[in-house]
Amino acid sequence: MKITTKINLITTAWILCVLIAVNAVVFFSFMKITVNMEDDELLQKADQLIKEINKEDSPVEMKDTFTPYLANHSFIRIMHSDSKKVIQVTNDKDLAAKVKAKSASHKETERLTIRLKKQEEQIAIVRVPIHSNGDVVGTLEFGKKLVGLELGKDVLLSILTFCTILGAVLSLLGGRWLSNLIMRPISNMINTMEDIEQSGIPKKIVIEHETKDELQKMAVTFNRMIERLEANLEKQRQFISDASHELKTPLTVIKSYADLLLRRGLQNEEVAHDAIESIHSEATRIQKMTERFLDLADTELEDLLEPKLINIGALCKNLFKQLQSAYKREIVLHYKETSISVIADELKLKQAIIILIDNAIKYSKDKIDVYLEDKEEFTIILVKDYGIGIPAGEIENIFERFYRIDKARSRETGGTGLGLSIAKNIIKQHYGEIKVKSTEGVGTEVALFLPKRKDGKELFVQ
Ligand SMILES: Nc1ncnc2c1ncn2[C@@H]1O[C@H](COP(=O)(O)OP(=O)(O)OP(=O)(O)O)[C@@H](O)[C@H]1O
Ligand SMILES: [Mg+2]
Repeated sequence: MKITTKINLITTAWILCVLIAVNAVVFFSFMKITVNMEDDELLQKADQLIKEINKEDSPVEMKDTFTPYLANHSFIRIMHSDSKKVIQVTNDKDLAAKVKAKSASHKETERLTIRLKKQEEQIAIVRVPIHSNGDVVGTLEFGKKLVGLELGKDVLLSILTFCTILGAVLSLLGGRWLSNLIMRPISNMINTMEDIEQSGIPKKIVIEHETKDELQKMAVTFNRMIERLEANLEKQRQFISDASHELKTPLTVIKSYADLLLRRGLQNEEVAHDAIESIHSEATRIQKMTERFLDLADTELEDLLEPKLINIGALCKNLFKQLQSAYKREIVLHYKETSISVIADELKLKQAIIILIDNAIKYSKDKIDVYLEDKEEFTIILVKDYGIGIPAGEIENIFERFYRIDKARSRETGGTGLGLSIAKNIIKQHYGEIKVKSTEGVGTEVALFLPKRKDGKELFVQ
């Protein structure tokens, strides 16, 4: 069953129940109040009559006294307790004949409503005991057919039935309007999702009116998600195009040398040797590049850290020992505090430091200084070289993927232009920052800022 039909049926059924309950309360209250009012009127009249009959003696005169008190379809009777004599006046003989005279059974006034067999109308009866010198000497019985009540009841019933039907119809229409109002944005969303599913292209939902309700919030969130998806797809597209462009050059070199070998064979040993050497070096470059691609892809994913408490001084000391012997370059580590600890993913942090040291080694010839600082909010790792430096206008570009300042020079040094992008991603994963200061021909300082806490909370719960 469609959700609109469900909403419609449920609201209508609920409103119908409420209407029936309210109508029942109205109906029974009307009946009760009307009967009470009739009873009160009869009692009032009975009291007045009792006061008057005390002054009269003869039954004929008594009847004359009763007559003005008769209402339509009613009777008045006086019953003597001792003589059982009944004096009666009525304008509805039929009624008087059907309702038998009866004295008040107690000393108190009785009020009751009865319904004669096969008759629609109810009859209100009051029996008031007549007292004389503290004793009950008789009963005044007053009866009246409640003709108006039956008429009022029928009219009320028709009005209530009409109102109930009208309410149900209105609620059906209202429910339909309401469910359409709720479902329109949802149907819109479903259509957009189906479009996306069929075409495979992310698409946003068109928000027609600014309603600021939950449904609009849902559409806005959906659109934000699509925006992110589009940005990621664009990033991927860009990456594939950049990567294939980068791979094209070494592959062209390899192909041209391989062609040369095919054409000239191995006749000229010197040419063959050069060709094989170039093929080897370009293949190594491709291998390094693909490793870098994988690193980059790995660091683009968030929430993939394995954080633990690391003694950064010890980590750098070990790392630099290995790098020094591998590259034959002097790397000097400076730090004042005996133990500087950070919570980070050890492998990733090591990778980021190696990227900075690798750049310092590639783009300088002198020693390299590394400073560790333990500040209140950050732990800083600063790598300083005294090499060629970076032109001021280029600093903002060096974090872009595949960006190399001097492509020819980078080819010599074997760079892919991905190192700093990877380092930046790693530091971003740790909620940190990476800053560069450089003067061309003087040297470069690259600093990693690792925050200790974020918004007053521990960064990584171990
Ligand atoms: N310490 C530095 N001194 C001078 N130039 C630098 C330094 N670090 C980076 N650069 C410049 O910034 C560019 C981008 O650096 P990045 O580390 O991203 O790439 P790469 O070193 O060329 O290649 P990869 O690190 O991927 O092997 C480099 O090509 C280089 O021109
Ligand atoms: Mg590099």
